[in-house]
Amino acid sequence: MPSKPRVLVLDGPNLNLLGERSPHIYGRQTLAEVRALLAEHARTRGVELEFFQSNHEGALIDRLHEARHRVQGVVINPGALTHYSYALRDAIEAVGLPAVEVHLSDLHAREEFRRISVIAPVCIAQVSGRGAQSYLEGLDRLISYMSAKEATGSSWKSGV
Ligand code: DQA
Repeated sequence: MPSKPRVLVLDGPNLNLLGERSPHIYGRQTLAEVRALLAEHARTRGVELEFFQSNHEGALIDRLHEARHRVQGVVINPGALTHYSYALRDAIEAVGLPAVEVHLSDLHAREEFRRISVIAPVCIAQVSGRGAQSYLEGLDRLISYMSAKEATGSSWKSGV
């Protein structure tokens, strides 16, 4: 693992409205506040982060492609793309980076359609239902995975 691994944190559609969007479901923290918490957490873990949010599927995919040689892992909250975006799923698989899927709300305690994630099969873990803590736990899961890979001398690639 590089001395300071770099992780891409991707947020999908509507997550720019955190804080005002359905606060009874997603809480009152803004995306900037969630990012600040995660950045502080990453600092204590010796990890560098880069953030990107978009309401457009293609922009998220472009960013994954563009960052693929610069970062060693991905934390992604795909928003509603979770439930139907095979293009985003394929992009995660194509770049071969380990990715953790995170959600603020508990997908399994909401509408039926949210229980399905087409992204989960290409991720090493899914963390949902813990608000901003889902991102922190997701980053920890990613770091553990990357450290274990390094310990066994295998490549960074997720191999999913
Ligand atoms: C979400 C859950 C999705 O079902 C929803 O479409 C979102 C947010 C979450 O973080 O809980 O936009 O990903």
